[in-house]
Amino acid sequence: MDSLDPGSTLHNLLSGHGVLMERGCTQGGYFMSNMVVFGTQWGDEGKGKIVDLLTDHAQIIVRFQGGNNAGHTLVNKDRKFILHLIPSGILHPDKLCLIGNGVVLDPEVLCREMDTLIQGGIEISPARLGISKKTHLIMPYHKELDLARESAKSGQDKIGTTCKGIGPCYEDKMARIGIRAGDMQDLDLLRAKIARALPEKNMLLQNLYKSSPVNPEQVMEYILPLAKKLVPFLTDVSHKIQTAREKSQTVMFEGAQGVQLDIDHGTYPFVTSSNTVTGNASAGAGCSYQMQQVIVVVKAYTTRVGQGPFPTEQDNRHGEHMQTKGAEYGSTTGRKRRCGWLDMVILREAVRLCGPTEIALTKLDVLSGLERIKVCSAYEYQGKKFLYPPQEENALARVKPLYDELDGWQEDIGNCRRREDLPENAVRYIQHIEKMLNTSVRIVSVGPDREQTIR
Ligand code: GDP
Ligand code: IMO
Ligand code: MG
Repeated sequence: MDSLDPGSTLHNLLSGHGVLMERGCTQGGYFMSNMVVFGTQWGDEGKGKIVDLLTDHAQIIVRFQGGNNAGHTLVNKDRKFILHLIPSGILHPDKLCLIGNGVVLDPEVLCREMDTLIQGGIEISPARLGISKKTHLIMPYHKELDLARESAKSGQDKIGTTCKGIGPCYEDKMARIGIRAGDMQDLDLLRAKIARALPEKNMLLQNLYKSSPVNPEQVMEYILPLAKKLVPFLTDVSHKIQTAREKSQTVMFEGAQGVQLDIDHGTYPFVTSSNTVTGNASAGAGCSYQMQQVIVVVKAYTTRVGQGPFPTEQDNRHGEHMQTKGAEYGSTTGRKRRCGWLDMVILREAVRLCGPTEIALTKLDVLSGLERIKVCSAYEYQGKKFLYPPQEENALARVKPLYDELDGWQEDIGNCRRREDLPENAVRYIQHIEKMLNTSVRIVSVGPDREQTIR
C-alpha cells in the first residue's frame, strides 16, 4: 500500500490526533514520524525481523529497555544475525542505532556484538551507534548474583532467568548504587562506585550463596579495556531523538521481551525486570511519548521460555509441530521454547495496555499442516468467564482456556507474497485475529527471511 486509505482505521486515528495535518508525507505507507514495535506475548514474536523490515522507513532506531536477555534474529538471504543489544536496524547502512537509558548494558557482550558485526562487513562507528550516558551497566557481580539466586532456588520457585544479570542490575539502579555508562569517562568515579557497591554483594555471595567474593580491583581490570572501546560511543540520546524529530525524521523504538514479561503487567513473578509496554519507550529513551504508529508483533501461536504459567501450552503433538516447524529454541540461551495455541486473552491485555495501530503477524507458515487450529477466546476462572487476565498473582496457572476452533490449511505458504496468495483458511485465521482484537493486520510474515513477508 503506497498511501493510507482515507477510510482506514489508521487514517482516522492519525487524523484524529492531528497528525495528517502536521505531517503530510508518507513513505511506502509509513509516516515520517515515530513508531514503536513491540512483542505482545512472552517474547520471541519476531520483533527483530519486523524492525529490520521497517528500518527502511526510519532514520533512527532505539532500544529502550531490557538487555542481552533479548535475542532478535535478522535473516536476509544467506545472512543471519542474532542481536542482543544493538538495535535491529544496524544492517541497513546510514541508519543511527541508539541504546537508551532504560536498557541494562553488558559492556563485554556489546563489544563482542560490535566485533561480530564488523566481521560481517557492517560499519560500526559513533556515526552509526550511540549509547546513552545514563544507561546502566551490567557488572560481573550482577551476573554472579543472578546465577547464584537461580541455582539456589528449586522447583516451582525458579524463574528460569537468562542468568545475564538483568534483574540484579535493575535492582542496583533502583537502589541508586548502579554504575552508568557515563561513569566509564571518569575512572576515579567508576572505581569509587564499584567499591561502594561491592560489600553488600560480597556479603550475599559469600554468606548466603556460599560462592566466592568479587574483588573490586579485578572488576576495574576487567572493565578498563571495555570502557576504552565504548567511551567514544557515549552520547546524549535525548538530544539525538529531539533533533531527528525537529527535522521530521522517523524514529523507531524497538521493544524487547513481550507484554506478558512486563514487570508490572506480566505474569509476575515469572517476568523480566523492566516495563516492556510501549509507554516505557518515553522514559527508557528519554523523549516525550509521541507515537503515530504502534505496531504489535503477534506470533501466530504462543511460545514461552523459562518458568511460569502458560494457559494454552500444548505438551502434545500440536506443541511439537510448532516447536519443530517453528525451530523454537531460545535465541539467547538455546533453551527449547514451550509452545501452545494463540491466546486472545493475553493479546487483549497487550492491546489495552499499548493501543496498537496495527498488527504484524509472524510465523503464520508454521501453522501449515494442522487440520484444526484452536484459538483461546476467554478464560474460565473461579466459575466466571474472563476476557482479560485475572489480576491475582499467578492466576494464569489456575485458569481454564476456552477455545474457538478453526479449519487449518495444508499448503506451504512460505512463498506467498500477497494476501490473495494465501489459502482461504489462512485468510480466515487472520480475519479472526483482526476481529477479536479490533485491529488490522498489515504485515504477515511467512518465513524468517526479510523477503518472506506480505505487506
Ligand atoms: P524476537 O526476539 O521477537 O526478535 O524473536 P527471535 O528472533 O528470538 O525469534 C523468532 C524466530 O523466528 C527467529 O529464529 C526468526 O528468524 C524466526 N522467524 C521470524 N519470523 C518468522 C516467520 O514468519 N516464519 C518462520 N518460520 N520463522 C520466523
Ligand atoms: P526477546 O527480546 C523470551 C524471559 C526469561 C525468563 C524471564 C526472566 O528476545 O523477546 P531475565 O533474564 O530477563 O531476568 O529472565 O524472562 N525472557 C525472555 N523470553 N524472549 C526474551 O527476549 C526474553 N528476555 C527475558 O526466559 O523467563
Ligand atoms: Mg528473542
